[in-house]
Amino acid sequence: MSTVIKNGTLVTADRMWEADILIEGETIARIGADLKGDEVIDAEGAYVIPGGIDPHTHMQMPFMGTEAAETFETGTRAAAAGGTTMIIDFCLPGEDGSIKNAIETWHKKSRDQICVDVGYHMAITGWNEQIFTEMKDAVEMGVNSFKHFMAYKGALMIDDEEMIASFRRCKELGVLPMVHAENGDLVAEAQARLLAEGITGPEGHSYSRPPEFEGEAANRAITIADAAGTPLYIVHVSCEQAHEAIRRARQKGMRVYGEPLIQFLTLDDSEYQNADWDHAARRVMSPPFRGKEHQDGLWAGLQAGSLQVVATDHAAFSTEQKRRGRDDFTIIPNGTHGLEERLALLWTHGVETGRLTPQEFVAATSTNAAKIFNIYPKKGALVEGADADITVWDPKIKRTLSVANHQSILDYNIYEGWEVTGQPRYTLSRGEVVWAWGQNSSPRPGRGRFVPRPPFAAPAKALSTWKALTSPRAVARNPMNIPAGV
Ligand code: URP
Ligand code: ZN
Ligand code: ZN
Ligand code: ZN
Repeated sequence: MSTVIKNGTLVTADRMWEADILIEGETIARIGADLKGDEVIDAEGAYVIPGGIDPHTHMQMPFMGTEAAETFETGTRAAAAGGTTMIIDFCLPGEDGSIKNAIETWHKKSRDQICVDVGYHMAITGWNEQIFTEMKDAVEMGVNSFKHFMAYKGALMIDDEEMIASFRRCKELGVLPMVHAENGDLVAEAQARLLAEGITGPEGHSYSRPPEFEGEAANRAITIADAAGTPLYIVHVSCEQAHEAIRRARQKGMRVYGEPLIQFLTLDDSEYQNADWDHAARRVMSPPFRGKEHQDGLWAGLQAGSLQVVATDHAAFSTEQKRRGRDDFTIIPNGTHGLEERLALLWTHGVETGRLTPQEFVAATSTNAAKIFNIYPKKGALVEGADADITVWDPKIKRTLSVANHQSILDYNIYEGWEVTGQPRYTLSRGEVVWAWGQNSSPRPGRGRFVPRPPFAAPAKALSTWKALTSPRAVARNPMNIPAGV
């Protein structure tokens, strides 16, 4: 069985050209002119791009006393409907603290449900001998990135000493540490103060987590990564203070990567002032949405290359779940959705406005994530031999985002009523059409696969070589000739 995608304009992170793509089985067999296949997919008037990769999701995540409502099934269907063919989900250790068991638990949860491919990051939420040992097992199980929470005090947060030890272990294993950068001690103190002052609504969430707290933590994580001699990935970068820290580190030659979210690029902190409690609470996430000036900075970072990946941090909690925090903003489950909307919003607000080229759009939605997380060019590329994860992107289809037509399990949409331009005409996952515009597709749960990601040979080696060359050395001196008695 072969399929040919005809008449489209191929767009990758570095090129745009007209060609056909021949798919045999699950992979791209040939790219060229006048290719023939058993079946034809028409891409006339459309762009043919690598399927989106969202490297930051939380399906069915146990968190803040509840569990994220989005399942691997509804979440990956929403992904397919939005043109995304792979997610990287955050795996959290359970009660026993074992990260090996956590991976098994995630496999059990995801295996029969996923409609597109998945990978996992592992969260490091404490530090001990078992975690040190099992990090190697996790790498053998296909996990090459480890997230550290600098916030959520009393729950997921770890301290500097633990982070230093874990970053050094990451360096040893050639894997990538990631951080949620917010100063959790300052957040906890601000939360208590605001509650005591009688500010109990969702606006308190935003007041308790100012950009300075994020900038401080980003700087601290960068310093620790530098000392440990490892690259660093900073998730959900929301503000200029964190972006500034990343820019400075990169200018110094450090391999620090920054991930703004589509929410931060399109929504701002005025949402938390909305008089409708549900409206504001549905938008509570950490870090919170920021002011317009931060938004402009994030767009500039994507243009300048100081920020690399646009993700969603898709962590979907229902209205009922959000209402747990009716009287206390600190217990509103943190998280917002965006998996289905990411590409269309970035196209509409990025490419349609001229802020991004189509190639930059591809880089930010798939290629850069594939490179950073070491699955390139199997994913994130249009080259012979790559997985046929392909989105036929129709820049003419208009859609009104709404709870009435989204695939997510959520009972609301934070983009309700927004008009977007650009939708997947077809989404192909390893050669199979899993979504076709207007056809109410239902991709088969369980057809998705776990994609193991190997450790990084090149950056790890480059950094060790450089560290070895520049490490402190004792100065060889002549024997001391200080006169006796001095
Ligand atoms: O508010 C958020 N971001 N919820 C998901 C967990 C996290 O911090 O990434
Ligand atoms: Zn986070
Ligand atoms: Zn509203
Ligand atoms: Zn997250």
